[in-house]
Amino acid sequence: FSLKNYNTFGIDATARFFVEVSSVEELQDVLGNQDYDRKIVIGGGSNMLLSDRIEALFIHVALKGKKIISEFTNSVQVKVMAGENWHDMVMWTLDHNFGGLENMSLIPGNTGTAPIQNIGAYGVELKDCFVSCEAVRIEDQELVALTKEECQFGYRDSFFKNEGKDKYVITSVTFSFTKNDHKINSGYGAIEQQLDKESIANPTIRDISNAVIAIRQQKLPDPKVLGNSGSFFKNPIVEKEIFEDFALKNPDAPFYKVTDELYKIPAGWLIEQCGFKGKRFGDAGVHKNQALVLVNYDNATGKDILDLAANIIDAVKTKFNIEISPEVNLIK
Ligand code: EPU
Repeated sequence: FSLKNYNTFGIDATARFFVEVSSVEELQDVLGNQDYDRKIVIGGGSNMLLSDRIEALFIHVALKGKKIISEFTNSVQVKVMAGENWHDMVMWTLDHNFGGLENMSLIPGNTGTAPIQNIGAYGVELKDCFVSCEAVRIEDQELVALTKEECQFGYRDSFFKNEGKDKYVITSVTFSFTKNDHKINSGYGAIEQQLDKESIANPTIRDISNAVIAIRQQKLPDPKVLGNSGSFFKNPIVEKEIFEDFALKNPDAPFYKVTDELYKIPAGWLIEQCGFKGKRFGDAGVHKNQALVLVNYDNATGKDILDLAANIIDAVKTKFNIEISPEVNLIK
């Protein structure tokens, strides 16, 4: 079974078996089936790099639906099923004038996989609107609820990437949105510049979303046109001592202070300094507008992309003595 249309990198990987589930019961049945040694769950396929032939049963989660579960004067809780496309869901919230997700417009992928890496963009993370989620526990196929605390969200990180790794399949996410008194997050530099360009002084949540869409369209390749998985690498977080040494040698480097002891350095900048931005190696390449993104020009294999990633990691290590690591899930 070809997975080419199920991963945004557009890698033509083959899965031994494939099944699509559209209800929680179907998912529980498949997860309980002992005939398959290995099962891999796939949502929007937007944050994974597949190797070329995978001996496993791929389970495509296609649970659909959105439901308002409670409503107050200035807030509303909405339960969204895992298979809903993230961006379409964000557009739906804006159609209802529900605030909270506008900074995260145009992120590829599905709602059910968003909590795994606590997706984030332009100053806002999924956790900021997250209330709880439901998931099927793989070992006994029980449907369980997890609170925000239990999800242990961090930068591109959660329980589902640590103790909970490969143990749960998220089936729905419940969010809390504002209804009228919206909290506008326009402080991120790129958003401010975009709003200035359009002479918008008091942006609405729709204005923020439109600005984010414009920025992303300028910088990030559309996976429908050019295969990619968004940021391929995480921005490295380094200790003060290492950072100070780095900043002394690279006074122009951008950085964010995480805590007094920790600093985050944009991997895109490091990669660009190593000369990779816009470079193409066969069908694998580094995007011309954002060095953090690796792209598949047409027929790159999983290995082609991995080889390029390894070369980039080496080059950054050699030049800056900083270790960058993939943000995408590598599936062998
Ligand atoms: N930069 C360069 N060269 C590049 C890319 C970036 O010098 O090729 C510099 C920029 O000039 C800027 C800094 O790096 O000073 C940061 O760049 P940007 O604002 O584009 O954000 P990022 O750190 O590269 C992160 C997320 C993105 C998210 C943006 C905006 C990670 C790994 N990535 O990127 O997330 O959209 O911030 O909030 O944290 C994704 O996860 O798929 C993704 C796109």
